[in-house]
Amino acid sequence: MESHPHVRVLRGKKIILGVTGGIAAYKAVTVASRLAQAGALVDVLMTEAAQKFVAPLTFSALTGRSVATDLWSLGNGQIMHVALAREVDLFLVAPATANTIAKLALGLADDPLSATALASRGPLLLAPAMETGMWLNPITQQHMQALIQRGAFTVGPMEGRLASGAMGIGRMAEPPQIIEMARKVLGRNGPLAGVHVVITAGGTQEPLDPVRFVSNRSTGKMGMALATSARDFGAEVSIVHSPLQVSVPFGVASVPVRTAAEMRAATFDLLPRTDVLIGAAAVADYRPATVADQKIKKKSGNLDIELVRNPDILGEVGAQRQQSGRPRVMVGFAAETEDLLANAKVKLESKRLDLILVNDVSAPHSGFGTETNQVTLLDKWGDVLPWPLLSKDEVADRLMVWVARRIQGKGLADLGA
Ligand code: CTP
Repeated sequence: MESHPHVRVLRGKKIILGVTGGIAAYKAVTVASRLAQAGALVDVLMTEAAQKFVAPLTFSALTGRSVATDLWSLGNGQIMHVALAREVDLFLVAPATANTIAKLALGLADDPLSATALASRGPLLLAPAMETGMWLNPITQQHMQALIQRGAFTVGPMEGRLASGAMGIGRMAEPPQIIEMARKVLGRNGPLAGVHVVITAGGTQEPLDPVRFVSNRSTGKMGMALATSARDFGAEVSIVHSPLQVSVPFGVASVPVRTAAEMRAATFDLLPRTDVLIGAAAVADYRPATVADQKIKKKSGNLDIELVRNPDILGEVGAQRQQSGRPRVMVGFAAETEDLLANAKVKLESKRLDLILVNDVSAPHSGFGTETNQVTLLDKWGDVLPWPLLSKDEVADRLMVWVARRIQGKGLADLGA
């Protein structure tokens, strides 16, 4: 399998992580570590109060870079905050205390964090953390509003247990959420900015009675990877999904459904605003002809269940495509166990797709529930491109590269391997 430790949108990005003096400073260690592991270049700035909670050495060991702890730290003969501020992709402050938020709003510059923030032109992302009273104080709220109006992004604070032991709003967002928001901010002007991507995901559940349903082994992992990737490419993303084990990515609109009929209705509701439709759902092709009002009790002998056809969602969308012009780009998946390419070609044509990704669901590392997928791409111009065994995240990223090019009118032949 091709290794894929890096997150595309974070790889090589210059991120300043400002850490201020709150108990949540210890969680900033996890944020720094995950960003660095994902391939970002992380420069940490700490206020004096932050150093009471965590040692600068912890951050420098994790990021492999020096940590600025006072205003006069020098880097390559330059004043560090000036050098750092010059080319920053993201200025993240986590935790952001009420004091630092006030300084940032007012433009004070008496510590390495506030001085660098003032000099920086990169987007600012704040993860506030403080006591409920401080957060709700109108002056803090005013400072936050001023920063948001000037283009700052925020994540949290959340409700929960605070340092004092009290419950209330003011807890810093958890590191995974902060990372997700950082990805969204970094990707906001990406190649799919202004494009609405709708994804169907998961296996539909077709009820038999109040406690039973017919379904399949789809977990929704591929759909979630697609949604995350589309978001990181700057798209507005909606995901129409059946009940799932995996959670919907941060910053993606969730449209929960159960049955194929509900999935069809939700997809058609979104259609007038859909630029790109990706059908990653394993839609049950049949449903029980009748749904019993009460639980079906066992009786002697066998039980026959009559199944009737479900709507073909992509098929129906494809049939009206020429007339409505929506979606501009349509992608399907084909789960096959034999005659892969021939079967996929029939689906590509009959559903009027632009592209289909076919995988052999009987292969050991491909298909339902696996972390990886080996797919071959077929486009409507007859080009065929096999991809190696890849993580589902990498399949999603590569597909988004194709979608972005397709939006610009390019085909698979231009894409290369
Ligand atoms: N699909 C759909 N609605 C259906 C069935 C499938 O929108 N009722 C979509 C899937 O999301 C996928 C593509 O069509 O993108 C192909 O799905 P697949 O189940 O492989 O194909 P089917 O058309 O159901 O054909 P078959 O089951 O005969 O292989």
